[in-house]
Amino acid sequence: MAVRNLVGLDLGSKFIKAIQLTENNGHFSVTEYGQLEIPPQYSVPDAITELFQKKKFKTKRVVSSVSGRFVFVRYINMPVMTDEELVNAAKYELGKYIPVEVDEVLHDSQKLEDLPASEGQEAEMRVLLVAAKRTFIDEHVALLEQAGLQPAVVDVDSFALGNAYELCGLVNPDAIRPGKLIALADIGATKTNINIMSDSLSYFTREFYKGGDDITDAISKKLGMEPREAEMLKRSPGGEEQKLLDAVGGILEDICHDINISIDYFENQYDKKVDEVFLVGGASNTIGLDEVLEKTVQKKVSKWNPVQHIEVKLDRDAAQELQNNATQAALALGLASRIRRE
Ligand SMILES: Nc1ncnc2c1ncn2[C@@H]1O[C@H](COP(=O)(O)OP(=O)(O)OP(=O)(O)O)[C@@H](O)[C@H]1O
Ligand SMILES: [Mg+2]
Repeated sequence: MAVRNLVGLDLGSKFIKAIQLTENNGHFSVTEYGQLEIPPQYSVPDAITELFQKKKFKTKRVVSSVSGRFVFVRYINMPVMTDEELVNAAKYELGKYIPVEVDEVLHDSQKLEDLPASEGQEAEMRVLLVAAKRTFIDEHVALLEQAGLQPAVVDVDSFALGNAYELCGLVNPDAIRPGKLIALADIGATKTNINIMSDSLSYFTREFYKGGDDITDAISKKLGMEPREAEMLKRSPGGEEQKLLDAVGGILEDICHDINISIDYFENQYDKKVDEVFLVGGASNTIGLDEVLEKTVQKKVSKWNPVQHIEVKLDRDAAQELQNNATQAALALGLASRIRRE
């Protein structure tokens, strides 16, 4: 079978990250990695172009993702039906669950699992409905095309996170917690994404708009610093750890409280317990965050490094860049993992 390449491109609000995954006879390896902090005067296509000029990606076919208020994700129970029946039924159901006209969205549905009959309750199936405003996707695709890329799939951020988890579990069961419920949280610059997973099954996703920018803001205000200076202190405290911890305490509690609300909601809704929390995203490196989160959710919290479980065939610089920023690269890896389904 031919060797195939696909690039997962995570267009974050502050950093773009791109991972090339190569599949050779069912074996996956990371064969290029790059990330770029988007300079303030750059447009998104400028930043993509620069990254693709600097790096040696073998293909321009990319999987990217979207999120935000024009993207709708719903988990619902439906009567048992065939996949063909689901296509039509899902379109009808969607109308009840999204705040815009069904004609204005691109949508998809997927059966997640069978729910056996119980007393007084017929057998059902759990279904995922996803929709995104057509104009929003068109704009996203236009950005990619402007940068000379060929969009293969446009995914949803939280699913990409789940796909990274699924891929790692497939490659190495030690990379995940088989059979356990894990809350994956991607804490970026402007938002936090949560996907509660058990093996390859997603139970719940949620997004809220707090992240690293809010942490920088808090440092800047509390310590009377310029935002740039606060950002530098946050990333390299160099001996000022206690001062930094005092400044970020309040905002970390806020973010952790919001993560806890999602976990609580899920646990009550599904009558299941989340076992552990895995953290990814640039802001998951913030000093003190794991401790505050552990206290808030009363569960084990660890940073998750998905790429450490996948074979990496990179030159020294790219390997170092990936290793230094492994948690930030999780989403891009999940996007590239679509290569499995091509
Ligand atoms: N060492 C570090 N310590 C603390 N915060 C960090 C560190 N390195 C990066 N960050 C923060 O991580 C954020 C960037 O992470 P990431 O690349 O995951 O975000 P993004 O994907 O661009 O944002 P979003 O997903 O919200 O659009 C920034 O807020 C940055 O300040
Ligand atoms: Mg991000």
